[in-house]
Amino acid sequence: MRASACPWIAAAAALLLAACATAPAPAPMITPAPVRAEVSAGVLRVADGASIVAADPAGRRTAEILAELTARAGGPRLRVTTPGAPGLITLRKGEVKHPEGYELEVTPAGAVVTASTDAGQFYGAMSLWQMLTATPGEARLPAVRIADAPRFGWRGLMLDSARHYQSPAFIRTLIDAMAAHKLNVLHWHLTDDQAWRLEIKKYPKLTQVGAWRVPAGQGPAADIDPATGKPRLYGGFYSQDEVRALVAYAAERHITIVPEIEMPGHASAAVAAYPELAANPNPSRAVPADWGVYPALFNTEDATFGFLENVLDEVIALFPSTYIHVGGDEAVKDEWKASPRIQAQMKALGVKDEHGLQSWFIQRMERHLASRGRRLIGWDEILEGGLAPNATVMSWRGIDGAVAAARSGHDAVLSPAPVLYFDHRQTGRADEPPGRGRVVGLEEVYAFDPAPAQLTPAERSHILGLQANLWTEHVRTEGRAAHMLFPRGLAIAEIGWSPEGRRDFADFSRRAAQGSARLRRMGLPAAETPFRGPDVPADPRYRDSRQLKLCSENIALALEDDAPVRGERAVFLTDIMNPCWIWPQADLAGVAAVRVDVGQLPFNFQIGADIKKVVAGNNRTPAGELEVRVGGCAAPPAVIVPLAQAASNPAVTAVEAKLPPGLGRQDLCFTFTRPAVEPMWALSGVRLLPEAGR
Ligand code: ACM
Repeated sequence: MRASACPWIAAAAALLLAACATAPAPAPMITPAPVRAEVSAGVLRVADGASIVAADPAGRRTAEILAELTARAGGPRLRVTTPGAPGLITLRKGEVKHPEGYELEVTPAGAVVTASTDAGQFYGAMSLWQMLTATPGEARLPAVRIADAPRFGWRGLMLDSARHYQSPAFIRTLIDAMAAHKLNVLHWHLTDDQAWRLEIKKYPKLTQVGAWRVPAGQGPAADIDPATGKPRLYGGFYSQDEVRALVAYAAERHITIVPEIEMPGHASAAVAAYPELAANPNPSRAVPADWGVYPALFNTEDATFGFLENVLDEVIALFPSTYIHVGGDEAVKDEWKASPRIQAQMKALGVKDEHGLQSWFIQRMERHLASRGRRLIGWDEILEGGLAPNATVMSWRGIDGAVAAARSGHDAVLSPAPVLYFDHRQTGRADEPPGRGRVVGLEEVYAFDPAPAQLTPAERSHILGLQANLWTEHVRTEGRAAHMLFPRGLAIAEIGWSPEGRRDFADFSRRAAQGSARLRRMGLPAAETPFRGPDVPADPRYRDSRQLKLCSENIALALEDDAPVRGERAVFLTDIMNPCWIWPQADLAGVAAVRVDVGQLPFNFQIGADIKKVVAGNNRTPAGELEVRVGGCAAPPAVIVPLAQAASNPAVTAVEAKLPPGLGRQDLCFTFTRPAVEPMWALSGVRLLPEAGR
């Protein structure tokens, strides 16, 4: 961008040309912003064939990765040459204090990265990569001296591969994108109620049974697999060979993969495979497809601990990570409360309640991990009932868990919902893919403060860093996963790396837009929606559900339909507890009717006792009705349209409702009645239909 300013000015005026030659160029666009960058006069041109030399094997591997990433992002083709040969780009070892720090000097004669470690050298190379690939083609780098080191040691993203599966190829591209922006932890959520995705040699049914489910809804139920005569299964798993290859790929890019094996809750898939592990004497043998929190817990028999320890031993053999994540979240204790054996065991152990039993459970796991030289990390529920002696806490229910952990001398990672939960939509635009309804935009993520003010400096030293989590209940495809992760992941990179004083959203936003375009050139479809500006409806007579107002936001979600099973599906923004939409102050002058696009969504949500609050059985006709109110939702229905025709169509049906004549600007309110909670009527869009002749 900067390099192109000069030719334009040159064409404009000789006076300005002189100024252009002497004025230092602006700082290079590097994300995360480096600690110090001093730009001076001069430019380094890097064209195809330019060489990189590195002094040692790790540096050479970094050079190869730099060359490969540069070519993939549309920059010049670089050659890696042997030590001793002259190089335009040099990677060298030298004195740099911080173990992840580096110095980068660019002059018109060449570029030199200096670091004391392989990691530092890699990060210097990635800063250079950003300068080399700012725009496609030959690179013109401003002369600059950069001295840089990270603020935090844990700069992470979490990928949920349980709710939806992503291919190893996608995960490699994600690792590339992370590494290129100095993110260094990929927390891999491998097991949950809806799937067990990691091959465990000793327990093959975990993936033979646990990795496959029938997705919820009428569409998948009708999608019969001719091979079995039963509904086609959704799933997949990672073989140990695939995992080893991914771990090695990440390690070369200075990323640690932290595996997560959930316990004692989120265990439905595991106990469907091995029912003897369940606290419930009669667990379901099918992997479930609802979202939310299932009550399925592991039991606390010695044999079950033996199973979990054997699983962890295979995990440890695959993942060199110091930290092993054991989940610990959302373990509703109903099954433990209902089990006479477990209650008797609690009495014998002298633990006061089920939280105490969970604490005892987690401590047992911690001892096992410690005996193998590893450390336990878990979600903040592991604080309940007493924290295991050396446990690290991942704080997700706000930052209170991290604060409590740090105050008691434990380490913590910040990943609070909702701001670091990337399953939230990042804009309210109608072209935004599904996700949690509450919008978490780039600016909100960027404003996250990773240094809780309530901690003393000594306590703050226990904050290892931060991480954003991509849960994938509503993120069905790899393209959407990329869209949810970036550019917001670039904000995580900058908060985790750059000094607080370097934060400048306007500047970051320009770099994030450029960085997102570069990621797309590399084959990772980062979101463009944050840079598209406000969503002005193109047609004043049409509103997508995402352009309407929800009447309430109890559990607001932008959800996909379940049909067709393959191909485009409609998206519906709805409150699943109260599906109700308002078109505020709709211009109804000359409008004869509304056409409402109506779809049916599976009610596949485990919401516990709250299910009683969902209104159903209020229908007048067998399938229920669309109700349209004029003048707000408190008004009696102006139109009631039976939905018999829509009920027989699993996809979207257009339903017309005639409005009374002579209306001006009014709030239009849309609700449905239904015979049962499942399925749930939802509105994907509304069109105002003019009177004939208008
Ligand atoms: C979580 O979101 N249950 C960690």
